[in-house]
Parts: sequence; C-alpha cells; structure tokens
Amino acid sequence: TLPRVYVTRQIPPEGLKILRESGQVQFQLWDSDDIPVPRQELLEKVKGVDGLLCVLTEKIDAELLEAAGPNLKVLSTMSVGFDHLSLEELKKRGIRVGYTPDVLTDAVAELTVALLLTTSRRLIEATHEAKTGGWGTWRTLWLCGYELANSTVGVAIAERLAPFKVKKFIYTDVAPRPELASIINAEYVSLDELAKQSDFLTVCCALTPETKEICNKDLFSKMKNTSIFINTSRGGVVNQEDLYEALSTGQIAGAGLDVTVPEPLPTNHPLFTLKNCVILPHIASASYSTRNAMSALAANNLLLGLRGEPMIKELKL
Ligand code: GLV
Ligand code: GLV
Repeated sequence: TLPRVYVTRQIPPEGLKILRESGQVQFQLWDSDDIPVPRQELLEKVKGVDGLLCVLTEKIDAELLEAAGPNLKVLSTMSVGFDHLSLEELKKRGIRVGYTPDVLTDAVAELTVALLLTTSRRLIEATHEAKTGGWGTWRTLWLCGYELANSTVGVAIAERLAPFKVKKFIYTDVAPRPELASIINAEYVSLDELAKQSDFLTVCCALTPETKEICNKDLFSKMKNTSIFINTSRGGVVNQEDLYEALSTGQIAGAGLDVTVPEPLPTNHPLFTLKNCVILPHIASASYSTRNAMSALAANNLLLGLRGEPMIKELKL
C-alpha cells in the first residue's frame, strides 16, 4: 500500500496537483485555507502517517510527533521559516525536514520595499487623511517623511533599491558574507554600528534562540530618531514593548511590520494606535506565483523524502 500523508492546509493548487498525480502517496488534507486545522483534529489525523506536509500555523512538537508515531519519516513545511518546528525532537526521531527557501525571495524583497516606502512616506496616514477630510490645503511640511536618496540602509533588499540613489548599504550577520555583499557593495558592520548608522534598518533573519528579541530597547536606543525600522522576518526577533516605547517617544521615526507576536495581532493592540507604525498581516511571500512555487516545492520535497532521495531543499538537522 502507498505511504500515507496528511496535509494540514488546503495548499495552493500546484502542490496538490503534484501530490495527486504522483501516484506515490495516499493523502488526506484539512480542506480549508480559512482556518488552521484544530489541534485535536490534527493529533487524530497524523496517527500512523508516513509523511506530513504542514504550514507555519502548526506547532510540530514532541506531542504531535508522539501522536503521529514511528511511521513518520518525512516532514515538509511550506515555509522558509522553521520556528514552528521543534528541530531537536525531529532530529531525535530521525525525521527528515523539507522547507521552501529561495522561491519566495523575490516576493519578500518586493514586499519589503513596498512596506519600507509605505512607512517612510507615510502612505497609510496619507490615504486616510485624503479620504476623511484632513486634506485642507497643500501644506509645506504636512505628511513629510524620509527618503531613500542619500541614505544608509541596513539591508537584504539592496538590489531592489538600486534605482533609489541610496548612498551606502551596510549589513550584519554572524559572520561577513563577502560573496553576497560584493554584489551590492555592502559593508559588514556590528549590530551596534548597524543600529547607529542605518536610516532604514530591515530585519530578515530566521527566528532562533540567538535572534529572539535582538531588536530591543538597547538596539532602538542606538538608532537615529529619523530612522525607519522594517521587519519581514518573524515577530519574535522584536521586543514589541520596547518597539512601542521607541515609536511612541519618537526615539525612532517609524516601523513597518509584516510579522508580529502573536499572529494575528489583536485589533486592540497598542501598536495599532500609532500613526508611525504600519502593520501588515504576514503577506511578504503572498503573490500567486510564489505561493504556488512554495506549494510545489513542499510537495516535491515530501515525495522525494518518502522515496528516500535527497530533497530539493532540506534542513540540516
Ligand atoms: C513565511 O513567513 C515563511 O516562513 O515562508
Ligand atoms: C508638488 O506637487 C509641487 O508642485 O511642488
């Protein structure tokens, strides 16, 4: 009999088509994209499966892996992020893990630029003013923001910003990455220097124990009060109370967030009361083509893993 697979979401059609037409697996799925599969249902459904295809709303932890049992050999997540996975528990059980980096890079970079410009040029405030009667007359400093021209950007979206006359790109990482940095002529600096020098600081690292809340009081206090902070990685890299403080006291000029803790961010959250904070509902990779590419990659990773072959994109555990 064919290996059994559970898919925790109605994933975009390209991935489902690959699973269906492979003839290699029998799969069941949570047939909705509007709400995640309830935890109890998930714990039931994974019993005895050989493979699991999940999205980032599912916590893959010891409890779930116990519920699945020893048949489970392959986990494929339709995400580049892996902070929803207990890597240690997966490793302990010898479960291979596929994920979907690279295919979403363009979509995320585009959204990051869009969010950066939306925040720095205050577009949400501006459309609101236009619509609600705030547009009394043309005014000389009304809705002024900060421009990219002549700025210093701490960044992973440098290639996209080439037309904007940015003066200098700087970046930080656990170690310099000359092969990437040379393409965009970016200088490696410490996190401290990054905070001090950046006019636009964008975060795009994975959430790990090392990066948890690295964007905190200490970092914001080193930033200029004209600087814009952008996060399209994971909400957990930011201490949100510290960010609220920095934004409300004018320590930094603005923030654009595609990710928060928790998600969804409650509508009565203090960050929503700030005019200089733009919050998006985790849509950085949300283009039709990219979400289908992620779906297809997740499906292919799963099938390859179940055949005992190297996956296209596999996490080293
Ligand atoms: C999106 O946030 C992802 O991890 O793919
Ligand atoms: C702006 O529209 C200007 O004419 O300065």
